[in-house]
Amino acid sequence: MNKTFLITGGAGFIGSHVVRLFVNKYPTYSIVNMDALTYAGNLENLKDVQTAANYIFEKGDITDEQRVNELFEKYQFDAVIHLAAESHVDRSILDPLSFVKTNVIGTVTLLNASKNYWKGNMEGKRFYHVSTDEVYGTLGETGFFTEETPYDPHSPYSASKAASDHFVMAYHDTYGLPVVMSNCSNNYGSHHFPEKLIPLMINNIKNNKPLPVYGKGENVRDWLFVEDHARAIDTIFHNGKNGASYNVGGFNEWKNIDLVHLLCNIMDKKMGRAAGASAQLISYVTDRPGHDLRYAIDATKLNKELGWSPSLQFEEGLEKTVDWYLNNEEWIKHVTSGDYQKYYQQQYTKA
Ligand code: NAD
Ligand code: DAU
Repeated sequence: MNKTFLITGGAGFIGSHVVRLFVNKYPTYSIVNMDALTYAGNLENLKDVQTAANYIFEKGDITDEQRVNELFEKYQFDAVIHLAAESHVDRSILDPLSFVKTNVIGTVTLLNASKNYWKGNMEGKRFYHVSTDEVYGTLGETGFFTEETPYDPHSPYSASKAASDHFVMAYHDTYGLPVVMSNCSNNYGSHHFPEKLIPLMINNIKNNKPLPVYGKGENVRDWLFVEDHARAIDTIFHNGKNGASYNVGGFNEWKNIDLVHLLCNIMDKKMGRAAGASAQLISYVTDRPGHDLRYAIDATKLNKELGWSPSLQFEEGLEKTVDWYLNNEEWIKHVTSGDYQKYYQQQYTKA
């Protein structure tokens, strides 16, 4: 079936995998990628699809109402898959307001445009909001986040995502907007910006730089291969229930310090270093304020209702990811030049 999609944030980490999947899998869909190209957005991520007949890039900021309306007018979108966001917790601690602007005001701007353009004809339309498990706050040693877990965000990032989730559901309840939402755990894979744990550690190990582990490294994250998340978004977009949310996760919990050791071991082998050499670089640093102890997703609903499950074992996915970074030095060089250095200094040279 022919459909025109607005995908926001398609030049970022997860967005680029979603754009690639939809462009390649659905030749009858027209995919318009709207992205402001912030420090995290990079059109190099989409080199392989940039000339595809069903793909168009439009630079634009989701908080710019005029630009958003202009694109709705021009393309008459049938569907929105909304990924554009400020996404890094540490940056949200440095500058909360930019998270409110993009994640809250930007989301509401898109919701308004969808509501206005689809008014009187919501048939076949869908607004898909991509959210995070961080809205649920933190777990203790046991238990899982389900779709019924109450929201309890602790960082400016997760608070802004929680607010955007509430607006999405409020537009469904108040205006009948056809929405669907997912809350996913930590992703990893290619094209991941090296401010986040896994790519930052790979890059630092490679360059023999200190590996900054926050606190005691005891915090736990539940890691999912990014292409599995993109597949989940495809499944939920096409088969998810109107007004529903779905948790997405890998049933794959790792303590940060164990994960860093695993990466060090993989890198020692790949770089021909003596066993244990890279682990010498581990350096415990001041903890992240408000640092959530543990995230773990119960993705049973998505599995039972829509048949999705993760495809890759973690060790295999990590090997693939490390290989991608080692084979894409130019990409790393480009994204770590300029502003990245300034951010790195500010974040990692505190007292
Ligand atoms: P990212 O930071 O890699 O990419 C964000 C993209 O949004 C970039 O291309 C950026 O240029 C664009 N963008 C930022 N502000 C914008 C604006 N005002 N207007 C238009 N474009 C703008 O993020 P990501 O890790 O790919 O995350 C994508 C989405 O998935 C986010 O909504 C995030 O909350 C959610 N999420 C991420 C993870 C994860 O582990 N990375 C897990 C669960 C959910
Ligand atoms: O859970 C989903 C979320 O996962 C997404 O919504 C966010 O967009 C995404 O950034 C990610 O958030 P985290 O804060 O969990 O990811 P990050 O990679 O920043 O950190 C992972 C863990 O590693 C966390 O416990 C903090 C720790 N850490 C992180 C960095 C950058 C370190 O110990 N040292 C570091 O230098």
